[in-house]
Amino acid sequence: MATVTDYINRNKERFKDELFEFLRIPSISTSKEHKDDIRRAASFLVGKLESIDLDRVKLFETDGNPIVFAELMTDPEAATVLVYGHYDVQPPEPLDQWDSSPFEPSIRNGDIYARGSSDDKGQSYTHVKALESYLKSDEDFPVNIKFILEGEEEIGSPHLVPFIEEHQDILECDMVLISDTAMFAEDTPSLTYGLRGLAYMEMQVMGPNRDLHSGVYGGAVDNPANVIAEIIAKLKAENGVIKIPGFYDNVTALSKEDRKAYEELPFDEEAYKEDLGLDALHGEEGYTTLERASARPTLDVNGLWSGYQEEGAKTVLPAEAGAKVSMRLVPDQDPKRIAQLFKDYINTIAPDTVEVTVTEHHGGNPAITDLTFYGLKAAADAFEAVYGQEPLFAREGGSIPIVADFQRVLDAQSVLMGFGLDSDAIHSPNEKFALKDFYRGIKTSAKFFEQLTDYSG
Ligand code: BES
Ligand code: MN
Ligand code: MN
Repeated sequence: MATVTDYINRNKERFKDELFEFLRIPSISTSKEHKDDIRRAASFLVGKLESIDLDRVKLFETDGNPIVFAELMTDPEAATVLVYGHYDVQPPEPLDQWDSSPFEPSIRNGDIYARGSSDDKGQSYTHVKALESYLKSDEDFPVNIKFILEGEEEIGSPHLVPFIEEHQDILECDMVLISDTAMFAEDTPSLTYGLRGLAYMEMQVMGPNRDLHSGVYGGAVDNPANVIAEIIAKLKAENGVIKIPGFYDNVTALSKEDRKAYEELPFDEEAYKEDLGLDALHGEEGYTTLERASARPTLDVNGLWSGYQEEGAKTVLPAEAGAKVSMRLVPDQDPKRIAQLFKDYINTIAPDTVEVTVTEHHGGNPAITDLTFYGLKAAADAFEAVYGQEPLFAREGGSIPIVADFQRVLDAQSVLMGFGLDSDAIHSPNEKFALKDFYRGIKTSAKFFEQLTDYSG
């Protein structure tokens, strides 16, 4: 009898080749120039899903990027798993910092280097190959499965949120399965039970009606670059506490048990610093590094511009300045409310010598999975079977906004079964994903479906 594992082992090379083909498509969602590539990536997935004999594979058009849907209903009594992933990727820039071309995958030291290798093509494709392996083996696929693969995660899923609201009927499920997070460390699998939310703001400071000579006007006219620096300096205190009034109102405090669980995680702070090339870390007073990076809210400038940036010295008093600021949120902070508090605070501290406008970009809600959820038990068994050790349970600092919407709209918990690593350099140059974790991911996914039957129904 041909088992699922046999099939996976026999088809490793082809699975890798297919992933490479997927990775060669520059499906960057942040720029309109890549609309055709986005479509090619969606069609690639449709093609692969169609080739494995599901009940239904469909590409849904939206006003933005298409949503790929597929389903296979084997048994109405069995659990239904909705697999979510995203086929869009971040832009590869700065290109000169890549050691190999971002859209020509190459393997070095067992890692696949390419934009999207970890986030999220490589990780999400594991589930497509796990399902194929089941259906092509002699083992029966034990649960019902649906796929929803979107092309706008990196821009805040603007069309997926209304889509799930409109299509609750076809998306009905017992849980969502997502591989778009990181393991705790190499060979140390973990299940992520918390993700942060996001409020992303942009600030513009306008001063005089033109750039001015900094000698002729300097001292008499307020300088937007100085002003924006002063505003930013008022957002956080030196001890890392955010000074926006009301910001912490709805933050759920860490319990003694939560903090104990954090303390027990095998975190190596020295290695963490070394990986980042830092001598010292900084964060909110009274919290550990892991707590600061996943259970506490933050405020960070993501971009800052003004004045003369080229070679040499040009004496100029810039007419304007701008900044982009992200705030990572934790339960039960509401991104809309936080955005409003940010605007209100900026308006109260902005001097009347300049004009300050604040706009809001996409955001997302934080999410926490209930640790007693049976889906996590099946996932833990699957990790143990493949990685030879029980996974840790950890919260992570990144955001997958749709997770909270799946909870709210579909009443479904998410199993965040990440196969990546923090050191994968997602969103950075030289993004990578370990080839062995691509394969172990496929096996863990397959095992998860098998284990689910032990816990459900
Ligand atoms: N896969 C990441 C989120 C992530 C990374 C979660 C690592 C946990 C660990 C996702 O693709 C992402 O980048 N999300 C954005 C969300 C935003 C665009 C709304 C983020 O976190 O910045
Ligand atoms: Mn992702
Ligand atoms: Mn991402």
